Amino acid sequence: MEQTRTAWQVVRYGTPEVLTRVSLPIEAPKPGEVRIRIHASGVSRADGMMRAGEPLWARPFLGFGKPRHDLTGTGFSGVVEATGDGVTRFQTGDAVFGEAGLNFGANASHITLAEDGVLVKKPETMPHEEAAVMCDGPMTSLNFLRSIGGLKGGDKVLILGASGALGSAAVQIARAMGAEVTGVTSGRNAEWVAELGATVVDYEGQAYSRLEARFDLVFDTLGVSSLGEARRVLAPGGRYLCPVLSLSLLGAMLRSRIFGGPRAYFSATGLLPARALRGMLADLLEIWAAGKLTPVMDRSYPLADLVEAHRYVATGRKRGNVVVT
Ligand SMILES: NC(=O)c1ccc[n+]([C@@H]2O[C@H](COP(=O)([O-])OP(=O)(O)OC[C@H]3O[C@@H](n4cnc5c(N)ncnc54)[C@H](OP(=O)(O)O)[C@@H]3O)[C@@H](O)[C@H]2O)c1
Repeated sequence: MEQTRTAWQVVRYGTPEVLTRVSLPIEAPKPGEVRIRIHASGVSRADGMMRAGEPLWARPFLGFGKPRHDLTGTGFSGVVEATGDGVTRFQTGDAVFGEAGLNFGANASHITLAEDGVLVKKPETMPHEEAAVMCDGPMTSLNFLRSIGGLKGGDKVLILGASGALGSAAVQIARAMGAEVTGVTSGRNAEWVAELGATVVDYEGQAYSRLEARFDLVFDTLGVSSLGEARRVLAPGGRYLCPVLSLSLLGAMLRSRIFGGPRAYFSATGLLPARALRGMLADLLEIWAAGKLTPVMDRSYPLADLVEAHRYVATGRKRGNVVVT
């Protein structure tokens, strides 16, 4: 009898209800590929945006009228179940984690990927749920803070959206790198964000742009502010970093480049070369092993409840990360 795997398909852009559970044949990995049995996969804000086909500028990568790749899910953690000819980095039984990138298909029971993709071995003591979200908040935040922001020990960093997947990772990574961290969050999340190591500013009580302090970096993880606002608290030569691309951010990047002063930056982390991303994962594993980074877990749903998980993520109120197992 043919073996099958469960996956989730999205054949047209829309609300979480467009997601359909499908059964697909399990195929033998081709040369250079590994087949992984997935134990946990992430359901991120970015996964929700890809399901919805937003923002429109991303459609050249995702597909114009409908998704070019019709499976959903990017970050995952699991165990190698079979290897194709010529595979050298992994063997059957290895616990691994990574991301499927623009191939998608991580919200599934199995996935087959090239061994030279964004795939690394998982430490035995790291739970699959935590490993499954490493490529979202932690990897993106490391890229922004270190590679784009040039963060160094002693810098002052302000993180907007400190209770989200990116923000909660960014607070911990910036602290691990020796920065002084201020996190902007609502009162309901203030206590646990402070426990991560941030001085908390409650956005419902105080506009961050009125703070007396001056920051080397403002990391606006949600795109809820602007370079114009951030300038009021940025030190000379400071940087405004934002992972959410919009026309206003593009304009700010261009204007700040031409006219000088604090600059605005964007990066599409997942589009960086796999080798660079694997390097970031290796560095994150060191921070994790030192006990300085633990992905914040909010809800875990069974894989069968992916639609429910997407609905929750779409509220914009999740704390840290959501996974399906
Ligand atoms: N460019 C890249 O490489 C890249 C990679 C990955 C993700 N992203 C993007 O990064 C963005 C952030 O994703 P995420 O997963 O971190 O978001 P998220 O986890 O969904 O953010 C939710 C959190 O934001 C808080 N929040 C909502 N409004 C806020 C405000 N005005 N000020 C401060 N906090 C607020 C909420 O807390 P309260 O309810 O208490 O307010 C909630 O805890 C997404 O747009 C995603 O697509 C970009």
